[in-house]
Amino acid sequence: MITKTTPEVGGMGHPIKRKEDARFIQGKGNYVDDVHLPGMVYGHMVRSPYAHARLKSINTEKAKKLPGVLAIITGEDLAKANLAWMPTLFFDKQMVLATGKVLFQSQEVAFVVAEDQYTAADAAELVEVEYEELPVLVDPYKATDPDAPILREDREEKSNHIFHWEVGDRAATEKDFQNAPVKATVHAISQRCHPAPLETCGCVADYNKATEKLTIYLTSQAPHAHRTLFSIVGGIPEQNIRVVSPDIGGGFGNKVPIYPGYVCAVVASLTLGVPVKWIETRSENLQSTGFARDYHMTAEIAADQNGKVKALRVKTLADHGAFNAAAQPTKFPAGLFSVCTGSYDFANSFCEVDGVYTNKAPGGIAYRCSFRITEAAYLIERAIDVLAAQLKMDPAEFRRKNFIQPDQFPYKTPLGWTYDSGNYEGAMNKALEMVGYKELRKEQGEKRKKGELMGIGISSFTEAVGAGPAHTFDIAGIKMFDSAEIRVHPTGKAICRMGTKSQGQGHETTYAQIVAQELGIPASDVIIEEGDTDTAPYGLGTYASRSTPTSGAATAMAARKIRDKAKKIAAHLLECSEEDLEWETGKFFVKGAPSKSKTIQEIAFAAYTNIPEGLEAGLEAVNYYDPPNLTFPFGTYICVTDIDKGTGEIKVRRFVAVDDCGNVINPMIVEGQIHGGLTEGLAIAFMQLIDYDENGNVQGGTFMDYLIPTAVETPHWETGSTCTPSPHHPFGAKGVGESPNVGSPAAFVNSVVDALSHLGVKHIDMPITPWKVWNILKEKGVVN
Ligand code: CDP
Repeated sequence: MITKTTPEVGGMGHPIKRKEDARFIQGKGNYVDDVHLPGMVYGHMVRSPYAHARLKSINTEKAKKLPGVLAIITGEDLAKANLAWMPTLFFDKQMVLATGKVLFQSQEVAFVVAEDQYTAADAAELVEVEYEELPVLVDPYKATDPDAPILREDREEKSNHIFHWEVGDRAATEKDFQNAPVKATVHAISQRCHPAPLETCGCVADYNKATEKLTIYLTSQAPHAHRTLFSIVGGIPEQNIRVVSPDIGGGFGNKVPIYPGYVCAVVASLTLGVPVKWIETRSENLQSTGFARDYHMTAEIAADQNGKVKALRVKTLADHGAFNAAAQPTKFPAGLFSVCTGSYDFANSFCEVDGVYTNKAPGGIAYRCSFRITEAAYLIERAIDVLAAQLKMDPAEFRRKNFIQPDQFPYKTPLGWTYDSGNYEGAMNKALEMVGYKELRKEQGEKRKKGELMGIGISSFTEAVGAGPAHTFDIAGIKMFDSAEIRVHPTGKAICRMGTKSQGQGHETTYAQIVAQELGIPASDVIIEEGDTDTAPYGLGTYASRSTPTSGAATAMAARKIRDKAKKIAAHLLECSEEDLEWETGKFFVKGAPSKSKTIQEIAFAAYTNIPEGLEAGLEAVNYYDPPNLTFPFGTYICVTDIDKGTGEIKVRRFVAVDDCGNVINPMIVEGQIHGGLTEGLAIAFMQLIDYDENGNVQGGTFMDYLIPTAVETPHWETGSTCTPSPHHPFGAKGVGESPNVGSPAAFVNSVVDALSHLGVKHIDMPITPWKVWNILKEKGVVN
């Protein structure tokens, strides 16, 4: 039995250097950390240094004596209020503060509240926690071994197995495999990584005892859903909770779950009656909040001798850590992973996924990914390259042969999705032309003769974004529609509010453009507001590239409602019938007499000053948009790499990204989204891994170990586009934010594998570091 105090949390090898932590640098923006309320106090977490240990005792006496300490909350305290555990977004429950035992390193054990953040952090170090170490499980493959420690003693099932999920036609796929002359297999790991947004997670909980109103300033990608969950779990009437999500410094899925820190801040504010601020440190964010991926996947493809694919079989092990806190739609235990047939025309497919618990931080969040599509796209794009190499076919020609053709849309995949539209060959042709593919292959051949290593990697991905539709998609039971409300003021200016929440994607610009396009009110006359649940219409928030397909569509539909009413007012003003009127962006005019017209601004004024009889005053509308289907953006990315034989260093010489997200609202914003996502994809392919040692010590818990690409590592991105509008979206747009993260990892990896393929290399797991490459070169006898 060992007694540890919290300094050992820093003892994960990386002591908390408080003064340098992001949380102590006061920003001057409109972020949660910029919220300063009178009487505000500060919370700090006590965290477990162990990955798996029995909690013997917690002694808070010394900490309480520190001047300025106001309260210390433990799991036992929360248990008295039935709040020691909270439900996750995926039918599991999660400890808010540990009771009984801890299940991952950096797990929340106690919450210290003090007058300032330094005192809170100092007091946290004085909390003495007695632990008794238990055997640690970090390898998901060992999770179901008979001798594996059972991690979740709270569950009835005495097993670490969480779920088995399968989709597709097992028998038909089996038959195709039996009859196929050609088969290829790849085992690929989409490694545990973390979105690491610039701003860490945090909140200010402000309970006003007089009004009984709880305001929570929250780093939330889904403010309305969070308000509802706070109400259901905390028993606070929903009308008394206001969640305000101010500016957010990047979300990428990390700010979808509800974290223990939020709950503790709320409990502390309810108890003390003062505002309580809790902001994570950088290391806390990396070590304890929602991780991404950790999918261990095997794909097999059956094909004929000419290289026509027939069937795809996928088996995957999903490591969910200590709690299944995956933030994904209820019906999909493995998210939208079954989009794994990708851009290819498979006759049959079968896909199965098993989820397991390990002693790691919980999660399974959709890191810039539509619920596991990054994993799926990576797997199929790797498998296609493996098969092409096996058949000694050019990977571009192999893709061309197997693409779903434009006349096959809407296309039903063997795993049940209906792709709305696509032209995969069109996007690939453009990318091949931009990169100069033929010349590059020639150059590669010549370089190989000289012993130089050069690779060309292709990825022709398909995305599925914009959840709903509500009949299929819900999170924690709440249907995945989204909303927009537009109010046009008498002078023709407007304010619009949405159920989504930008984290830097530029909604303020693009939503205003949609209003401008639909109503003719200049974008500069339109204010966009998101993130305040007291004012915005209900919505499910922003993640999984759903904003444009849902709230973007709702904005257009609300604007069209306004246009319908405006037409009635225009007919009244122009003394004609509605049928006599025609719309041209910004005005109605009488057919055949264009000079007889009323602008939207004149109509807006009349809506408040000169209303036709029988019509309600005002000019406003709200729309809750339930999309009929997902939208299916796609693209082809091509990466050219040169590898230094001496060091194993990989240089990305060229990267061409051709994206198709249907009609584009703002090309500059889309370009920015692509650049950012490609940079994240580069990091995942070459740098990032949240690893654990055998004792469950997290190895990627600081930016010293978990690398973030800077301008130095980031290559020049060359972007292009094709346009295949979504047939069901009101203005033909598809989401785009996630495409570059979904499509690019395979392009990077395919390029490196291609550079080494003549040495017999078929696959390398991410992150592909120079060390890994150098070892392969050594093993192959290229270097000594
Ligand atoms: O949900 P999220 O905002 O992360 O993703 P998105 O819907 O793909 O949009 C990202 C940004 O790109 C937003 O500002 C969109 O309005 C913009 N966009 C665009 O201009 N045209 C498109 N076809 C899709 C997105």
